[in-house]
Amino acid sequence: MAHQTVYVIDFGGQYTQLIVRRIREFGVYSEMIPWTAAGDRIRALKPDAVVLSGGPRSVLGADAPTIDFGLLEDIPVLGICYGHQLMAYRLGGEVESASLKEYGLRVLENAEGFVGDLASTTVWMSHGDQVVSVPAGFAITSSTTTCPVASMQNPLTRKYGIQFHPEVSHTPSGKELLRRFLFDVADLKPDWTSESFIEEQVAAIQEQVGPTGKVLCAVSGGVDSSVMAALLIRAIGERAVCVFVDHGLLRKGEGAQVAETFQNHFGGNFKVFEESDRFFGALAGVTEPERKRKIVGEQFVRVFEDHASELAGCDFLAQGTLYPDVIESGSPTAAKIKTHHNVGGLPDWMQLKLIEPLRWLFKDEVREVGRKLGLPDDMVDREPFPGPGLAVRVLGEVTRERVRMTQDADWIFRSELRARNQHVGIWQSYAALLDVRSVGVMGDERTYEQPIVLRAVESEDAMTARAVNIPFATLEHIATRIVNEVDGVNRVFYDLTSKPPATIELE
Ligand code: XMP
Repeated sequence: MAHQTVYVIDFGGQYTQLIVRRIREFGVYSEMIPWTAAGDRIRALKPDAVVLSGGPRSVLGADAPTIDFGLLEDIPVLGICYGHQLMAYRLGGEVESASLKEYGLRVLENAEGFVGDLASTTVWMSHGDQVVSVPAGFAITSSTTTCPVASMQNPLTRKYGIQFHPEVSHTPSGKELLRRFLFDVADLKPDWTSESFIEEQVAAIQEQVGPTGKVLCAVSGGVDSSVMAALLIRAIGERAVCVFVDHGLLRKGEGAQVAETFQNHFGGNFKVFEESDRFFGALAGVTEPERKRKIVGEQFVRVFEDHASELAGCDFLAQGTLYPDVIESGSPTAAKIKTHHNVGGLPDWMQLKLIEPLRWLFKDEVREVGRKLGLPDDMVDREPFPGPGLAVRVLGEVTRERVRMTQDADWIFRSELRARNQHVGIWQSYAALLDVRSVGVMGDERTYEQPIVLRAVESEDAMTARAVNIPFATLEHIATRIVNEVDGVNRVFYDLTSKPPATIELE
């Protein structure tokens, strides 16, 4: 790639991904490389700078993770925590096992050089071993009451080490230190922008697909597949065969919006398969959650089978793999294919080559690219939505009527949050329909109808989640509107459970 690159060599640190993100926030492209692959990668493509991450091991251990420092001779290097110790140890300094593990906030003392003006600022420490003497050519640039070498530097060879973590928010000057390393020490230019990404990817897609190749791109209405489709259309126009299967299980209005956006604003080869009858038919009478998921997945395959002639000639399948998936699979060159929830697999006979144009991006970068490609904000900012859609938010049997009730309640809930700006910071918010009936009274009539559950959670990654503290007055207003405006609903609950023990979805 044409832009400058910083490799963050991962020694197993829990914050390594965060370092990559922080560097990219400065407009500099960064990749995380496992230490086992670092030598080969550096030999293959020399980076403009290297960061050595933290890690749980001791550099004194027999099989300590390491890197050939000979490869780094003329490259600016910033060692963080384990990386700092490794650099000191491998270049001839001394590291000792401290009797107590140091964990928490510390104040920098005697600061000079690279960390010069940061004396008496707090930094985040978390380590067992520590550097006790620095290699030849290095100077100690700060210490703490418990750590004699909190930082060190050798400006001649552009090697810098810090025992603390600049990437976490507990180190207030951390961003400034990363900035200094990138721009003052390594003399980089911020050349990693959404525009440059789009430009590079357009060229890369054109090359991979060739002058006549066609790419099948399934659009779900979610952020990743929408951005992917917009990017493919930019690169290969009509040869991006974009397919949106409307199963009737999206939020109110979203199916129409996806079709409208792509048909009217992006043009190209966009096909809508209106298949809601098929999905509702297959789901009739089914109440068991996993069975519903399976049915939705299977029906996607049937849809692709039935439309095979329209899709004939596709050579590639576009997949919305993101950078965290690539990192998790361990190797940047061999990403595992994640189960595509929204497509549920393709028929076996469709032997398509994979193309993953978003595999270098974090989610927030995908959103930025989407905006630059001209997708509307409410599409780009969309909350995560389960592939089986409202099939898992309508508890019990999924009928058109029950989906309609859920969509209407969901619309009221989410638009009220938006109108009050209370949607900010929410990971997911939705309405679900319970599979019970309850008694109510409306006018002079006794009602016996179904309750809606509202759920809104905060989360970082969907692995854990907490209910959002929505003001009571807002909830009360929303509940009143839902009962008044949504036929068939006579009661509203708010779900207070965190995950674990509950899950984000009700089914
Ligand atoms: P749970 O309910 O397991 O959800 O806490 C975690 C995250 O995954 C989403 N989710 C799904 N996404 N297909 C999907 O594509 C599914 O079957 C599915 N089930 C849950 C959920 O919305 C949340 O973001």
